[in-house]
Amino acid sequence: MAALYSDLAKKVVLVTGGALGIGAAITRRFAEQGSTVILFDIQRAAGEALASELTAAGSSAHFHEVDLTDIPALQAGVAQARAAHGPIQILVNNAAHDERHPTETVTPEYWDQRIAVNLKHQFFAAQAVLPDMKAANAGAIINFGSTSWMAGQGGMAAYTASKSGVIGLTRSLARDYGPYNIRVNAIAPGWIMTQRQIEKWLTPESEAELMRRQCLKRRLGPDEVARVTIFLASDEASACTAQHYVVDGGWV
Ligand SMILES: NC(=O)c1ccc[n+]([C@@H]2O[C@H](COP(=O)([O-])OP(=O)(O)OC[C@H]3O[C@@H](n4cnc5c(N)ncnc54)[C@H](O)[C@@H]3O)[C@@H](O)[C@H]2O)c1
Repeated sequence: MAALYSDLAKKVVLVTGGALGIGAAITRRFAEQGSTVILFDIQRAAGEALASELTAAGSSAHFHEVDLTDIPALQAGVAQARAAHGPIQILVNNAAHDERHPTETVTPEYWDQRIAVNLKHQFFAAQAVLPDMKAANAGAIINFGSTSWMAGQGGMAAYTASKSGVIGLTRSLARDYGPYNIRVNAIAPGWIMTQRQIEKWLTPESEAELMRRQCLKRRLGPDEVARVTIFLASDEASACTAQHYVVDGGWV
């Protein structure tokens, strides 16, 4: 069991992309804290299975099928979640899609899709929940960036543009909503070995390079990011806002 943060019990938490990967680990950790966790995802089978498993274990977890690239659907989903579970107190903007895209093949439509799945929904999810947080004079938002742009990774310019944009989004929202006691931070994961990463991108060569660059000489797991996320959401991080926390095992 990870640390227990008593203030997280009964909090209403929205986790986007909460069905798989790092998002699923975050969902599990909030459930363990006694929070009411709402997952927005397009992976219905995985989302329902996770919510059912957690509910059967006595937690409060609820899957909503929402395509975050459809902003009216996202806004309607937040309204439904609020009606069912009460005002949203914590938002984790985790969903993304790390498809690679050689610059030569990117069309304007594809560019817009990448921004839609990797950046745009983070702003609109925040916009949808901020009235709840403002009314409560409390709240925490955690946006997911990536170290990929910091490392100068190629082959995915729309993704890295989105993920660096998350930092500007985070700092602006932190400035605007700090007066309402709302904290807004970003987490930048390094290479975290979700099932998808292992199946799609990990090769013996890339793992050897990772082990050369990373200070910690082992694979990092999704739960290691989830534990930082619940810390930042908790009152233990009450003075932390407008920051960008790197969780990468020391990739230097
Ligand atoms: N895993 C890594 O190595 C790594 C590295 C850097 C940054 N990150 C970031 O961490 C976060 C989580 O990454 P992950 O590796 O768990 O990703 P993942 O691809 O394994 O999971 C992403 C989740 O988002 C959901 N999702 C995707 N598009 C959606 C949409 N349109 N509507 C609703 N849900 C949608 C997926 O179904 C999935 O459940 C992302 O923001 C990612 O960019 C991950």
